[in-house]
Amino acid sequence: MAVVTVATWLAPMNLAIVALFLFVGYWLLRPNRWRGNPPPGPSGWPVVGSMFQLGNRPEIFFNKMSERYGDVFSLNMGQKRVVVVNTYETLAEAIIEKGHIFADQPDLLSFKLDTAGNQHHGVSFARASDMQRKKIKVVRAALNPAIPEVAEKFNTIIASEVALLMQDVASEHGKPFDPHHVIEFCYVNIIGMLLYGKIFQQRDEEYFKWAATFARRLELGSYLIVDWFPWLAYITSAEVKELKGLVETMVAWHMKLLEEHRQTLNESSPRDFIDHLLIQQQTGKLMVSDTDICCVLDDLQTAGFDTATANTVWGIQLLVQNPDVQKKLQAEIDDVVGSGRAPTTKDRRNMPYLEATLWEIQRVGMILPIPGLRSTSSDTTLRGFDVPKDTILLINHAKIAMNPINFPQPQKFDPSRYLDENGVVVAPDKKIMLFGNGFRKCPGMQFAREAMFTVVANLLQRFTFQLPEGVTALPVGRTDGHVQYPVSYKITAILR
Ligand code: HEM
Ligand SMILES: *[C@@H]1O[C@H](CO)[C@@H](O)[C@H](O)[C@H]1NC(C)=O
Repeated sequence: MAVVTVATWLAPMNLAIVALFLFVGYWLLRPNRWRGNPPPGPSGWPVVGSMFQLGNRPEIFFNKMSERYGDVFSLNMGQKRVVVVNTYETLAEAIIEKGHIFADQPDLLSFKLDTAGNQHHGVSFARASDMQRKKIKVVRAALNPAIPEVAEKFNTIIASEVALLMQDVASEHGKPFDPHHVIEFCYVNIIGMLLYGKIFQQRDEEYFKWAATFARRLELGSYLIVDWFPWLAYITSAEVKELKGLVETMVAWHMKLLEEHRQTLNESSPRDFIDHLLIQQQTGKLMVSDTDICCVLDDLQTAGFDTATANTVWGIQLLVQNPDVQKKLQAEIDDVVGSGRAPTTKDRRNMPYLEATLWEIQRVGMILPIPGLRSTSSDTTLRGFDVPKDTILLINHAKIAMNPINFPQPQKFDPSRYLDENGVVVAPDKKIMLFGNGFRKCPGMQFAREAMFTVVANLLQRFTFQLPEGVTALPVGRTDGHVQYPVSYKITAILR
């Protein structure tokens, strides 16, 4: 029987059928071919391309590739084409000079799931369109402290939440603790206040459940395998189902707030961003669905609290490791603010050393080694190479931040690199663009910087951060993932 089977298989007719299957299979799965003169790059493996070489820390693979192929190189990720930029100049060519072309988001399944099934919902993962531009304009206005009412609102909200953070830190009584959780709670509430009013009174059951949902979603949502093999989605994985469920939970959570707000809305006095969006919706200024509003709110919360938390957690670690910088910061605070009142956002312009330190924390901490994706909306070129429509742009920020030409002795944590001889901050973000640039530049930049400024200034006014007794060094290393934290550590906060 077995012999018959093998013999049958070997019949020329059947061989031809097998060959046809293999050919059709390969043809269906083959990476999209590059037209013209593509940037050089590794050929990767058949069918999968380079996706399994990336691992959990793609920037390490990218650094290696950029040493071999230079400033801009190309990859195939499953069926998708990707270009990776590794210098400031090429990044600027893409997102500033050709910003209108590099303004799209790729159609990835995880993005579609994140936007509740429609990639025109929300702002962050939304495809480029007039509607995305309209929505982001509303977001930018609400987050722009050049508008006095907005600045006043930031100041009030940040001050009240930071005061609570001081109590949380004081309640550790100088014992070793991991600052991550209290800091995260503070930023969740700062952004929460702005978006929907006070949500979490304390770190209770309800908060922890919410935070766990968020954390799991961020973990799953940063690129699924099916993103690179859209056809795999038809087989669907457990991850896809889980992500779908988590997004539904989040939308329902926002939907409930939306309804509550709608019931109590006073059109002439909006209380928060939900009210603002509801008014825009009712007056027809912004034709958004309720689900769309939920996705916008979700984007802001997601993009905001995790990034600010990670930066601050890196910041405390770096200040413990660089006590001389911590001392200088405390001297600046004592000098400008004294000890009789809490530092506020209004002190920011008088404290250049803290301003410079926050930039340096962001460069060295490097929370987003590969920040947000972009994709091309038409054929274009980069450094003279052809880049077709629908190519994904990845930015190797880790490499740009460590460029020794722009940042001499790049490994060194040195806030003074951004200060001129008069102690004035000069162009700290110029050769790096830590909040992106161009069409999809981070709308939360000013808000994030004001919040981080106030958090760090208040902490250092009241406390000195130190290694716990008997500990000689903090652990080294960073977590995997899209937003990277230092591996968890404990320090002490000693009352000054
Ligand atoms: C330290 C904190 C933060 C960092 C490092 C950061 C960084 C970034 C980066 C690199 C991008 C991509 C920009 C580009 O593609 O050119 C981005 C986009 C974005 N950020 Fe932030 N961000 C931070 C805080 C915030 C906050 C507090 C909010 C809102 C409250 C926010 C909301 C957004 C949104 C909505 C986008 C998408 C914009 C679009 O696609 O049009 N971010 N951010
Ligand atoms: C709505 O807000 C305006 C302006 O603050 C106020 O004068 C008015 O009394 C409010 N209306 C209601 C029904 O609360």
